[in-house]
Amino acid sequence: MAELYVNLDHVATVRQARGTAYPDVTEAAKLAHASGFVRGITLHLRDDRRHVQDSDVERVCREVHLPFNFELGATPSIVAFCASLHPAQATLVPEKREERTTEGGLDLSRGLSRVRDVVSELQAAGTKVSLFIEPEHHTLDLVPKTGAREVELHTGRYALASTPEQRERELAALRGAARHAQELGLKVHVGHGLTLENVAPVAAIPGLHELNIGHSIVARALFVGLREALREMHEAIQAAARP
Ligand code: PXP
Repeated sequence: MAELYVNLDHVATVRQARGTAYPDVTEAAKLAHASGFVRGITLHLRDDRRHVQDSDVERVCREVHLPFNFELGATPSIVAFCASLHPAQATLVPEKREERTTEGGLDLSRGLSRVRDVVSELQAAGTKVSLFIEPEHHTLDLVPKTGAREVELHTGRYALASTPEQRERELAALRGAARHAQELGLKVHVGHGLTLENVAPVAAIPGLHELNIGHSIVARALFVGLREALREMHEAIQAAARP
């Protein structure tokens, strides 16, 4: 059964908007843990520190007893910081300062040797490494050369599809990529742009391990509270995955 990893970056976004000490990301992660609806916590420490701060990552890693997924770009200082914390998992993403959010998967045709080095540095620290990639066979075929044993398929194009035909095409790409990744012996995660309304067909893809979902859960929590927002998403995932 696919498990929910909640990305709490946007709890930090609200805090950073005013430079206050609240809302506290670690407190949110503890609430998420206490809810029983999540398998892990994800935070993206961006190079520009626009939302999550180093201290958030340190505290969540130390104080929250759930698997922690450290999302990061290949910046050497952040890779070294990640390795020093020995998180359960790291997800490597491409990162541009000017983007509003992560806009696409890693380009392994160009950055392969740097990705291989990062994977090996993090694995040496005991961390499982997942690569955020587009749901494309030619990119998946390069993953074994990096040493990574997990991938996160980018669901952004599916989430942004504006017609039923386009949505079906993107879903077919995700299904095909998940199957191909499994044939390559990779564990498959998915994420980006998933909401209560669009999550079901993705959660129904066979053999998924994790769904990484953030923005829509934090937004929904404003209206119903974090526990209820997590319960709703957990239920939507479970319902979709039931045979
Ligand atoms: N997975 C990755 C690799 C991401 O970069 C993000 C956004 O930080 C997510 C999942 C979560 O996306 P969203 O906030 O749209 O649910």
